[in-house]
Amino acid sequence: MLQEISLVGKTALVTGGATGIGFSIASEFCDAGAHVVLVGRRKQVLRDAAERLGELCSWYPFDVTNTEEHSAFIQMLEDQAPVDILVNNAGVNNKKDYFDFTAEEFDAIAATQAKAPFMLSQAVARHMKRRGKGCILFISSLAALLGMHDIQAYTVCKSGIKGLTRSLARDLGPYGIRVNSLNPGFVYTDMLKNTNLKTPERLEEIKGRTPMRGFTQTKDLGMAAAFLASDAARFITGIDLVVDGGISSAFLI
Ligand SMILES: NC(=O)c1ccc[n+]([C@@H]2O[C@H](COP(=O)([O-])OP(=O)(O)OC[C@H]3O[C@@H](n4cnc5c(N)ncnc54)[C@H](OP(=O)(O)O)[C@@H]3O)[C@@H](O)[C@H]2O)c1
Repeated sequence: MLQEISLVGKTALVTGGATGIGFSIASEFCDAGAHVVLVGRRKQVLRDAAERLGELCSWYPFDVTNTEEHSAFIQMLEDQAPVDILVNNAGVNNKKDYFDFTAEEFDAIAATQAKAPFMLSQAVARHMKRRGKGCILFISSLAALLGMHDIQAYTVCKSGIKGLTRSLARDLGPYGIRVNSLNPGFVYTDMLKNTNLKTPERLEEIKGRTPMRGFTQTKDLGMAAAFLASDAARFITGIDLVVDGGISSAFLI
């Protein structure tokens, strides 16, 4: 088992890997021996994250919504080392009343949360298919399982990601490529802090409704991702692994 869980000799690309959930995934990957490439839009944030992760980490400023640049970017990485693992983690949210949501705001969410992971996975999978192996991870959301307040555009995208996981698992499995998603529950990252979930009362309410009484920690996602990316999960594909302390399974009144 210890041998299978190792990621030594593998290269992982983690989008949005400099902060929050992405950073913890990158950190656990490095701990397991992988070389990790971080991408995001803010140079200084990437530089600081890479410094914390050490010599197994490199970084590039890259906006994942620039889909026309995906092929060239992936080719540049592949010229250095094969991308064995792709984690489509970069994300944005916009929590507001459904009746105030504009078409432009919908497009902005969809560009990052749906179109970018769809196209980036295609660019990476072309190389994985040639090699006959690879692992793609997406990040879905409880919004794909439960009706959540004022995040409809986000919900459209995350529900689509859950479906895309199954669809790609079906179509890429014959090429040795596994495709899974992680479903994080509530994780206290910048994204959550920027919503109206940030008041102490709301935070206590969420904790109280969670059977395990707390928030999912970013490390919980990092460890789950490292497992799914490893050979220990060699026959696991098409799943949405929920890491939420039980909140989506419970009927708590
Ligand atoms: N926190 C939660 O409770 C929760 C629950 C379910 C799902 N998720 C999902 O988990 C993922 C990570 O979110 P998080 O909670 O860790 O929030 P976060 O800390 O805000 O992370 C988002 C990351 O995405 C990057 N990013 C955003 N737009 C980008 C773009 N166009 N190109 C490249 N990078 C981009 C950001 O970096 P730059 O701004 O520097 O580009 C940032 O590093 C997201 O997909 C989110 O939807 C979170």
